[in-house]
Formats: sequence, structure tokens, C-alpha cells
Amino acid sequence: MDLGIRGRTALISGADSGIGLATARLLHAEGARVVLTDLDEAAVVDAAAGVGGDVLAFGADLTDAAAVERLHERVAGAVGDLDILVQSAGITGAQGLFHEIDDAGWSQTVETDLLAPVRLVRAFLPGLRRGGWGRLVFVASEDAVQPYDDELPYCAAKAGILALAKGLSRSYATEGLLVNAVSPAFIATPMTDAMMTRRAEQTGTSFDGAIASFLDEERPYLELKRRGQVDEVAAVIAFLCSDRASFVNGSNYRVDAGSVATI
Ligand code: NAI
Repeated sequence: MDLGIRGRTALISGADSGIGLATARLLHAEGARVVLTDLDEAAVVDAAAGVGGDVLAFGADLTDAAAVERLHERVAGAVGDLDILVQSAGITGAQGLFHEIDDAGWSQTVETDLLAPVRLVRAFLPGLRRGGWGRLVFVASEDAVQPYDDELPYCAAKAGILALAKGLSRSYATEGLLVNAVSPAFIATPMTDAMMTRRAEQTGTSFDGAIASFLDEERPYLELKRRGQVDEVAAVIAFLCSDRASFVNGSNYRVDAGSVATI
């Protein structure tokens, strides 16, 4: 299926690894003009070179308002207005039970996983609205609707992302700007590599043993009994970025192999 995005301009955050990078590859393969951003400029420039010779990349810490403004200036200067924005940057953030997490843990997590996306969208929204055709996709998480008690700042921030996506989908749809979210669960990326390395250390098992026990004990409804692959998430994001998703707005697509227990 041709996604109908040849020549469209896309910015992907969190794009030097994981879901963001896989999305960049797929949008590029579909003919979009792709720009990557992530924390470390050298690393994201390297990642961009791996996607294609014509792919641009700029570093920015999205928790820094001035850095987001500068990112916007650089992207606009290089490619003009965006047609597509995929917000994938994020961190697991503060871990532990509620009584173990202080203000600093909450602030860092909410700053990165909720406020940074707000800033990014605010900076690029005027351009996205100008074109009369736009797609905005937020990467949320299964945790947004099924909170786990050992990472509540992350869950609360991701629930905020779903509210933000839904709210934004009301504001600009008639201008052609469609807004949706994708909620993955347990995807094989550096984020869950770090989680499983920590779990293996804590439980005295191997990395694979940690994955098996995590699936068994913590993700009992993830019916495929394996980590997801980044391409399995990128495929859904790319669809939502496409011209084919022309009647899809304000939705949350789960890519979680059933991990969220409710319908
Ligand atoms: P990842 O760690 O490979 O990618 C996240 C990227 O965000 C990193 O490259 C990191 O440098 C970037 N980032 C972090 N803080 C930043 C900041 N302040 N400014 C700019 N960039 C920043 O992890 P993954 O798994 O690809 O995560 C992508 C998104 O998917 C995240 O929003 C995450 O919460 C979400 N997600 C991931 C799941 C998984 O199982 N891997 C499950 C559910 C949601």
C-alpha cells in the first residue's frame, strides 16, 4: 500500500534509537523528507546517515525551552514547515513505589515525558497548521491506561499525553491536521534493555531469564509472550502519518499484543 506521503516533510523526536529511529527509516522509505532530532547532535547525525544520505539531524534537549526554539529555527531554516511530527522522545523516569519517589523524580519524568512534548508541538504547530494537511503522532504507552505502581510518574505523564493528543485532535482537524497516539508495550529498545539488565541484576538471572519472568509476572496479558520489535510499532505510526489515515483522528492505537487487559 502506498502511504501517500512522498515529498511530505517529517520531524521525528527520540530518533537516534528505538521506535523513533525505526519510524524515521520507514517514513524515509515511503518517500518522506525526514529530519531526526535527539539529545546528542553527533549521535543523531550518525543515526541519520544510516537512514539515508539526504536525511538531516539536529540535536536538542527537549526539556530546555530555548533548545526547542533553536531546534525549530534550524529545522524551519533547512526544510521549511513540517507536514508530519512524530513525538517519540521519552524516558522511563523515576522508578519505585509512590512513597520512594520525591519531587525531583516526578519533575524529571513529567518534564521529559509530558512538558517536552508540549513544547515541541507548540514550536512546530504554526507550520503544521499552515500546510492544510498534517499528521501529529504521539508515542504514549500502555502505562497511560494501565498504570503500574512501580513507575507512576511515567504512567501519569503518558496519561497526560493521551489527554493532550485527544484535546489537540479537537482543535485542528478541520484544518487538515490529524492527531493520534500510539501506545506500545514492552518493545525491544535501549529503554527496555536497561529495564531488563536491571531486573537480571536484581533477580540474579540472565537477561533472557529477566524477560521471561517479566512477561510471566508483570505482563500476563501480553499474549505473544515476547518483546515487540521496533518495526512493529513504526508500521502503525507510519500508517497514522499517512494519507491513508484520513479519517483517523483522536485515537489511541495500542501496539501491545494484548497487554492492556481491558477492551
Ligand atoms: P529509546 O530510549 O530507544 O528512545 C528514546 C529516545 O528519546 C532516546 O534516543 C533518548 O535520547 C531520547 N530522549 C530522552 N530524553 C530526551 C530529551 N530530554 N530530549 C530529547 N530527546 C530525549 O526508547 P524507545 O523505547 O524507542 O522509546 C520511544 C518512546 O516509546 C518513548 O516515548 C517511550 O516512553 C515509548 N514507549 C516505549 C516502550 C518500550 O517498550 N520500549 C513501551 C511504551 C512506550
